[in-house]
Amino acid sequence: MPAKAKSKPSKVRVGFVGSGGIARHYMGLFTKNMANDVEIVAISDSSDAALALAGDQFNIAKRFKNYKDMLKIKELDAVCVCTPNYLHAQPTIDALGAGKHVIVEKPMAMNATEAAAMVKAGKDNKKILVIGFQYRYAPAAQVIKRAIDEGQFGKVLFARCQALRRRGIPNWGVFTRKDLQGGGPMIDIGVHIIEVAHYLMGSPKPVSAFGSTYTYIGDKEEKAKGVACGWPNWDYKNYTVEDLAVGLIRFDNGATLSVEASFAAHIEKDVFSFTLMGEKAGAQFEPLMLFKDEAGVMVNVTPTYVGGQDGFLTKLQDFIECVKTGKQPQAPGEHGLMVQQILDGVYRSAETGKVVTFK
Ligand SMILES: NC(=O)c1ccc[n+]([C@@H]2O[C@H](COP(=O)([O-])OP(=O)(O)OC[C@H]3O[C@@H](n4cnc5c(N)ncnc54)[C@H](O)[C@@H]3O)[C@@H](O)[C@H]2O)c1
Repeated sequence: MPAKAKSKPSKVRVGFVGSGGIARHYMGLFTKNMANDVEIVAISDSSDAALALAGDQFNIAKRFKNYKDMLKIKELDAVCVCTPNYLHAQPTIDALGAGKHVIVEKPMAMNATEAAAMVKAGKDNKKILVIGFQYRYAPAAQVIKRAIDEGQFGKVLFARCQALRRRGIPNWGVFTRKDLQGGGPMIDIGVHIIEVAHYLMGSPKPVSAFGSTYTYIGDKEEKAKGVACGWPNWDYKNYTVEDLAVGLIRFDNGATLSVEASFAAHIEKDVFSFTLMGEKAGAQFEPLMLFKDEAGVMVNVTPTYVGGQDGFLTKLQDFIECVKTGKQPQAPGEHGLMVQQILDGVYRSAETGKVVTFK
């Protein structure tokens, strides 16, 4: 009898490095929406409590304190890296080296040097590296993408990115520690708006950046404990990130992107959006609106119904499809690296007071 050909299992077998808040969100979507395509094989976390919480909730028996032990599981196809930012690069490089495909949460890394090493590890090991950017998959972003691809915008010249909270300093996790996160609101929430705007601009290469950062509320006890604290009692004593970052980035195609990101801005209300300006038309992301000339007049187009599904679910589906079929990811490591250069450039310029140029 001829030997039976080994067939690839139809489910992608995944493991987790970090099993905290966002990892459990992945697990929820994998088990509720993608159960036919994904099997959660193992989880790892340095915290017993996190392992117990995720393991018990999702019925996962294989639990590891050290992610390197989990990577020894041969049948693991893919790894989701969901640790704090300072622990994105090494676990990603280790997982790729162990022959696993990787999705790593945003921001890709602490800085562009780490991000470049991660991209190299993906290439060297011929494994897929996806960055957990979800806003590019949002239905509203896809509408803008289709309009740009149809040529409605002409050349996209400028993106104004805003991720501004009036008062919303995280009082959980390590989001206020520069040594563990790489920065504050710009690397944490600004990155979301930057990634989608940069993607819609056609992912041009950054060539120079200028920026400033300011801290004026996060490190103040009276603000953390005051009535107008937003989320109360954040760790003001170890607050080492900016409250507000602003930056300007120029790209190799001549386009420009500006970014404003804050955990505590003195503005009327929170803004989490971008505006794109092209030669022939423009758009606003949230609420979605297109601006153009039609029949000799200027018109604002507000879609009646956008539809589509949550971008976070689409990002996971795209990753799993890439693992299954070998298709190119929509959020590859190379895009993450350019976004990281933008973040780095603004932070480095803020430190030096000079324009930063990229090689
Ligand atoms: N895409 C999004 O919308 C989104 C939303 C929230 C968080 N995130 C990103 O996800 C990442 C994690 O954020 P979170 O909110 O889940 O934080 P979290 O604190 O809830 O979870 C992080 C987990 O990593 C674990 N960990 C720490 N050191 C470890 C180690 N050495 N080995 C294994 N595990 C370790 C912690 O114990 C914790 O359980 C961050 O990079 C954050 O930016 C993304």
